[in-house]
Amino acid sequence: MAVSEPGDYVIRNRRQWDRWARDYEEPGRQRWSEKEPFWGEWGVPEAQLELLPSDVSGWDVIELGCGAAYVSAWLARRGARPVGIDNSEAQLQTARRLQREHGIEFPLIRGNAEDVPAPDASFDLAISEYGASIWCDPYRWIPEAARLLRPGGRLIFLVNGVLAMLTTPDEENAPAGDRLLRPYFAMHRFEWSDDESVEFHLPHGEMIALLRNWGFAVEALMEIRPPDGSTTRSPFITLDWAQRWPCEEVWKARLDQ
Ligand SMILES: C[S@@+](CC[C@H](N)C(=O)[O-])C[C@H]1O[C@@H](n2cnc3c(N)ncnc32)[C@H](O)[C@@H]1O
Repeated sequence: MAVSEPGDYVIRNRRQWDRWARDYEEPGRQRWSEKEPFWGEWGVPEAQLELLPSDVSGWDVIELGCGAAYVSAWLARRGARPVGIDNSEAQLQTARRLQREHGIEFPLIRGNAEDVPAPDASFDLAISEYGASIWCDPYRWIPEAARLLRPGGRLIFLVNGVLAMLTTPDEENAPAGDRLLRPYFAMHRFEWSDDESVEFHLPHGEMIALLRNWGFAVEALMEIRPPDGSTTRSPFITLDWAQRWPCEEVWKARLDQ
């Protein structure tokens, strides 16, 4: 794994997600069919996590890096007006197919979540579950989320936990261990040797400073601990690991009024 300066990651991630899209269709279809949301690699139910605001009815929502867009579908069922943006045409084709299967329509935009074709202050909530929140440079997508939100608007995003990013070996399907394999202070851009994708993850202090710099107050950092018996299709974390250290985290922030 290399930690290096940003460059051509938007194109690299588009190519990689066009290749991965087929593998994500069935999991996306499953999540579309769930009436109640469940989150992240372990499928922790909304009732337990309380990730969403209690009432989103009538809210304008942008899902940044929507993929199959099941998060937008859940929000539409709760009365919100979602818009999804994604960099991969193949992922959006899946999202359109699932819209047709479920009879739920909302706008889907092909584009980069760091540069969204929408006016300033046009949304009440920006949300990302493993979308822009890990595949875009936080120094670009967080300022863009601040631009898109109305005063008082909410930003909610789910990402891999910091300790998971420091302890996962760069070997195909090898799970996170109990040793720190890379420096915390160098965290930003991550590349893995078995595909061409590029991810971004920041140390907690840097993320808080970045959010505050763009006018956000941090309301919560929720560290997800999957309950006993939880399962995941991801080979990167075992349940034993995830019950000892947070492998996923949710950030909730609110733009200043
Ligand atoms: C893991 S999916 C997230 C969707 C869904 N929540 C999920 O967990 O399957 C990641 C998505 O981010 C998208 N993505 C990556 N880079 C992006 C960018 N620069 N702008 C918009 N979307 C991007 C990918 O195309 C992919 O569909």
